[in-house]
Amino acid sequence: MKETWSDRFDEGLHPAIERFNASIGFDINLLNEDLDGSIAHARMLGECGVISVDEAIQIEQALEQIRLDFFSGDFKPDLSDEDIHFAVERSLIERLGPLGKKLHTGRSRNDQVGTDLRLWLRKRIDEIDNRLIAFQKVLFLKAEHNLYTLIPGYTHLQRAQPLSLAHHLLAYIEMIERDRLRLNDVRKRVNICPLGSAALAGTSVPIDRENTAKSLGFEMIYSNSLDAVSDRDFAVEFTAAASLIMVHLSRLSEEVILWASEEFSFVRLTDRCATGSSLMPQKKNPDVPELVRGKSGRVFGHLQALLTVMKGLPLAYNKDFQEDKEAIFDVVSTTQNCLEAMTILMDEGLEFCTERLAETVERDFSNATDVADYLVNKGVPFREAYQLVGRVVKRCINEGILLRELTHSQWLEFSPKFEPDLFERLAPKTVVASRNSFGGTAFLRVSDQLALWKKRFSADLTM
Ligand code: ARG
Repeated sequence: MKETWSDRFDEGLHPAIERFNASIGFDINLLNEDLDGSIAHARMLGECGVISVDEAIQIEQALEQIRLDFFSGDFKPDLSDEDIHFAVERSLIERLGPLGKKLHTGRSRNDQVGTDLRLWLRKRIDEIDNRLIAFQKVLFLKAEHNLYTLIPGYTHLQRAQPLSLAHHLLAYIEMIERDRLRLNDVRKRVNICPLGSAALAGTSVPIDRENTAKSLGFEMIYSNSLDAVSDRDFAVEFTAAASLIMVHLSRLSEEVILWASEEFSFVRLTDRCATGSSLMPQKKNPDVPELVRGKSGRVFGHLQALLTVMKGLPLAYNKDFQEDKEAIFDVVSTTQNCLEAMTILMDEGLEFCTERLAETVERDFSNATDVADYLVNKGVPFREAYQLVGRVVKRCINEGILLRELTHSQWLEFSPKFEPDLFERLAPKTVVASRNSFGGTAFLRVSDQLALWKKRFSADLTM
């Protein structure tokens, strides 16, 4: 005869509904956190005199044994357990008999699952933060080696002005820094304890919520029991923060894919991270950045899913909440895997083709602004200089030559203010060096930024 929920029920669940209802297939991930939460709860019950200290110790020991038994394969939750919380409680009762039945005093699965999820996510946030730092360090080392490597800078994906490659890479370090700050902020709201809010209204059992929160390392406790068991804002916020991480990884991926194309040839993919084609023997494909770019979609999808799950739910707990777990688990593993892959890609998956980059920045009109600035420096109003340089560029394009290929006397046809020192101003290195406003790409500015980042990373650059 199948077990029923309580004596209120006469029959067991339909087997298909049992499968449909169960979350054990994925919330098994929360085993350690569920045990930690239960241990904290049992100790607190002991300290508050709700159960005896000896009973609390026995419960704690049995829970620790369940942890060991799971890893040795002796504790095997199954579908009939429904979820991780019931699985642990069932096993505890099997081990301790009536004493095991005391653990659930003064709590509910509603505050329990919220506690577990927050404990789990808090750890994952710290892991992701470490991965973000590792990624920044790899970008930093590349930047440091490439202060004087020039790369075309684009707007509208049209050549705009040349850049120090270090400046380009530092832009990503800045983005990742914002990701770190955002995660750190989300962590504060993950780190609030709902335990002891019970089903929705609190409990008449004389528990001590501060006690469990403190032993689980939470910063504070929820002040409102209804809010405590209904809140998944932290999951949405986390997924939003992860989505921005994925946006940043995806944008860098897109650049690497472009750079690796024959047309750009700004980077060579090493064999470590590139793949071949099953048909075309000449090919080397950038699968890693393509996959990262592609996987961003699932993280954004989970953000939409979580918002949609939450938006119509009346207070307090609704079973819809069970849908949060697979989303969060996938967001975490996708983000972690993508960060790891991108870190490896930037570390050993590509080499910048510095000669090709140097040639590339020589062969365009990305120094046109500098001619205008040259005239501005000689008292010509900017808009006038801009128009004049437009005419020069047009003539060069018609003649199929570059700005620096015009002779001095040809320049003089446009303005008497052009002197021979103009040619030096047109060299890509001078062009880059001249953009020395704060935050600009001038080598001196970029090297200041590198020094600042080096200081921040100084703890361990070798990783
Ligand atoms: N498996 C459930 C979940 O993931 C645990 C909480 C169940 N609570 C309840 N009242 N049915 O949300």
